[in-house]
Amino acid sequence: MRIPLIAGNWKMNMTCESGKKLAKAIAEGIGDTDVEIAVCCPFPMLFGIADALRGTPIRLGAQNMHWEDSGAYTGEVSAAMLTEAGTTYVILGHSERRHVFGESDEWVQKKLCKAIESELVPILCIGETLEEREQEQTENVLEKQLEMSLKSVAANNAERIVIAYEPVWAIGTGKTATPQQAAEAAEFIRSWLVNKYDNEVSEKIRILYGGSVKPDNASEIMESEEIDGALVGGASLKVEDFIGIINF
Ligand code: PGA
Repeated sequence: MRIPLIAGNWKMNMTCESGKKLAKAIAEGIGDTDVEIAVCCPFPMLFGIADALRGTPIRLGAQNMHWEDSGAYTGEVSAAMLTEAGTTYVILGHSERRHVFGESDEWVQKKLCKAIESELVPILCIGETLEEREQEQTENVLEKQLEMSLKSVAANNAERIVIAYEPVWAIGTGKTATPQQAAEAAEFIRSWLVNKYDNEVSEKIRILYGGSVKPDNASEIMESEEIDGALVGGASLKVEDFIGIINF
């Protein structure tokens, strides 16, 4: 049985003070839940949010990292820095990183290997653009991203990875994939994983959906057996919305 994961991606929002308030409010509001919950905050807030989350079941996540251990990489952050701050999850290959900051599949692959080696849990984001969907390239795009990112990941390490299917056209646009589109993509990813690894490994890997998830569409999207939770952007910044999604 895969434990569902609802991860909030705060992106470049909030300050440490407002983030702490939000983190505490989420912790107070969740009650008893079988769902795993994480909030992925900007780098300078990690220590502060880790403090606010201490003693709660909510885990801390980061939104990016570099693949090298240290060195002359101005503006970058290493895996060791994330773990020192108490980080469990790290989002890798988010479409905003790929499309706004030019991250390549090769970079994502290096980051993924370093995250695994550092015992972080990577949330690997993949997804097609609107143009690619319209040209019926969705599965080709997903396949290429999976192949490149996971090319040197062995089966015993693959089990810990979380994969987030995030159609680029649904992120921050208010347009959500239909439950059927989300389910089809998740089924495709699962069958790709069965081919690459095997059934047992594939069954352990959580597949999330991300892209304009809200309390009122969360349950229908997560109806698919292959979807094990959500990566939530905008709606993770409001306590009621995020809790509404957690209680899907
Ligand atoms: P959104 O963002 O929920 O605001 O669409 C999702 C994401 O970028 O992970």
